[in-house]
Amino acid sequence: MTSRAFGVLGPGDIVQITDPRGHRHTLQLEPGKVFHTHRGGISHDEILGMPDGCVVTSAGGTTYVVLRSLLEDFILSMPRGAAVIYPKDAARIVMSAGLGPGSRVLEAGGGSGALTCTLLTAVGGEGFVVSWERRPDFAEVARTNVERWFGAPPANWELGIGDVRDAVADGRIPASQFDAVVWDMLDPWECLGAAATVLRPGGVLVVYVATTTQLSRVAEDVRAMGGWTEPRAEESLVRTWHLEGLAVRPDHRMIGHTGFLLATRRLAPGVQAPPRRRRPAKGAYPTAPGPDSSS
Ligand SMILES: C[S@@+](CC[C@H](N)C(=O)[O-])C[C@H]1O[C@@H](n2cnc3c(N)ncnc32)[C@H](O)[C@@H]1O
Repeated sequence: MTSRAFGVLGPGDIVQITDPRGHRHTLQLEPGKVFHTHRGGISHDEILGMPDGCVVTSAGGTTYVVLRSLLEDFILSMPRGAAVIYPKDAARIVMSAGLGPGSRVLEAGGGSGALTCTLLTAVGGEGFVVSWERRPDFAEVARTNVERWFGAPPANWELGIGDVRDAVADGRIPASQFDAVVWDMLDPWECLGAAATVLRPGGVLVVYVATTTQLSRVAEDVRAMGGWTEPRAEESLVRTWHLEGLAVRPDHRMIGHTGFLLATRRLAPGVQAPPRRRRPAKGAYPTAPGPDSSS
C-alpha cells in the first residue's frame, strides 16, 4: 500500500482486478509490465495514471474492474510460507487484544506476515509491533509480504528470528513493555511464561489455535499458572450471502473452520484471580478410576 490512499493508481500500488464472473487477480503495478490472463494480456501502463475504481479491457476484449487491494484482499492473495490467520480472525484479534493507535504488540510466530500486517495497521505509526519467527525461511516470506504491503520496511516493526522464549529469557525482548501478546503456534502453552514476562499488568494475551485439544490445554495451563483472568474462548463464523433478486440466501460454500481464539489478561504482579464461584460441570475433568468407579 503506497502513501497515495486516494487518487490515481501509480507504480508500486497493489490492485485487484475482477472479471465479469467475479474471478480476481492481484497485481503490483509496474511500468512496462503485462499481466497475462487466458482472456488476453492487460498492460500495467493502461492502469497506471487511472483513478482507483476504473475499468480496463484485456487484449481479448474482457473487461476488468480495477481497485486498490484492501488488506483482506492482499492477505488472501499473498504468497504463504506458513498458514495465515484469516481476516475474520485477525479482525477479532484486534478487538480482543484491545489494539488501537499507540499499542505495543508482540506476536509469534510471524509465519507469513498476514497477522503482522493487520497488527501494524491497528497500532498505527505511534505504536509498534515486534514479531518473532523461528524459521528463517518463513521470516523471509513475512518480511517480503509486510514490506510489499506497506511499500517499505515499517519503521515501527521489528522481526526477530529464533524462538520467542529464548528472546524473552535473555532480554532481547524487554519485560513488562507490551500491551498485548498474540501467539499463533502449535504449542502456545509452552510460551505462557514468556507472555507473562513481557506483558504489562492488565495486558492481553490472545492465543490462536486450530483444534479443541490445543484450546483445552492452553486454557487449563493458563488457570494452573495463575496471575491471569479467567480465559475466554471464541470462534467466529462468517457466512457470505448470495444476493440476486428474490434469491437472497446464504452461499452454499463457506470457510467452515479456521481456528479458536483464547483471550486472557495479565494481573498485577503477585495477584491471583479470586477463585471461580461456578463449579466445573460434572465430567469436565477426568477423575482417577477408583474402586467404585463403575457405579
Ligand atoms: C501458523 S504460523 C503463523 C502464521 C502467522 N500468524 C500469519 O498470519 O501469517 C505459526 C508459526 O509459528 C512459528 N513458531 C512456532 N513456535 C515458535 C516459537 N516458540 N517462537 C517463534 N516462532 C514460533 C512457526 O515456525 C510457524 O511459522
